Amino acid sequence: MKDFLELYDFSTDELNEMLVLSTDLKKLYKSGKRDLCLAGKTLAMLFEKPSLRTRMSFEVAMTDLGGNAIYLKGPIGGREPVKDMARVLSGYTQGIMARTFAHQTIIELSEYASVPVINALSDYSHPCQAMADFLTIQEHLGKLKGLTIAYVGDGNNVTRSLAFGCAKLGMKLTVASPKGYELDTASIEKAIAIRAGSVEQFNDVASAVKGADVIYTDTWVSMGQEDEKAKRVKDFEGFQVNSDVLKYSPDAKVMHCLPAYRGYEISDEVAESKNSVIFDQAENRLHFQRALLKKLLS
Ligand code: CP
Ligand code: NVA
Repeated sequence: MKDFLELYDFSTDELNEMLVLSTDLKKLYKSGKRDLCLAGKTLAMLFEKPSLRTRMSFEVAMTDLGGNAIYLKGPIGGREPVKDMARVLSGYTQGIMARTFAHQTIIELSEYASVPVINALSDYSHPCQAMADFLTIQEHLGKLKGLTIAYVGDGNNVTRSLAFGCAKLGMKLTVASPKGYELDTASIEKAIAIRAGSVEQFNDVASAVKGADVIYTDTWVSMGQEDEKAKRVKDFEGFQVNSDVLKYSPDAKVMHCLPAYRGYEISDEVAESKNSVIFDQAENRLHFQRALLKKLLS
């Protein structure tokens, strides 16, 4: 594979291999040993949106593997065409990662770059996040196949990558969203057609969450939607992951890609509860991305 744009592009075996490599590299890292496979290599990191986890974990991963990462913030394609940036950066670096508004920007980078391109979140999807999430679930529950993730909230970029990943990895994703905020039908149909796993959309929390192994949520207001905040907060009433929701599946692991807006999509009590694995998820961004960078850039 040249690029990492969306989980839909990979086979079940390829996704599982990346998870195995993440686990192996995590063990090596925890034992204090280093793998310097990216010595002398540079990653360009292009950001149109803010970030804590993605920026930090990619930069730490590159440094840890012996390489170097350079951060560029601003509109991609503002000063010069995306296709020109892709070719210029291909002459300087061994990889490009990008966080964009339009998913098309990442596709265009991948079409014109001769080096690997990594999707570090677009309005369409967030595949690095979903892979770190699957790694976390595997660590806590010992397997993936046959498990159910109940996603409560906005059918957004994170939901879409979870849907494709679940479908490939033999898991079930149930989504609970208010009317008008469901995951789009085309993505659901695309995921269902994979057949190994399944995706089901509901408009009430109970139907999605009962008996789930994992309860997952994300912000009601994604980056770029700040102007819609007042309306969204009203429309998402009743879709908060709190102790009442946990009663439907008291042993479920609670996940959130972060940043979390406590008091909105998740209560502080649940975010801090023994069910919560949100900081393991955040740490696993580093371990998955080290595997991804090793695979794509070395
Ligand atoms: N979860 C995630 O991608 O976090 P950042 O926006 O901080 O990178
Ligand atoms: N859905 C969120 C995810 C943040 C990591 C957003 O796009 O802002």
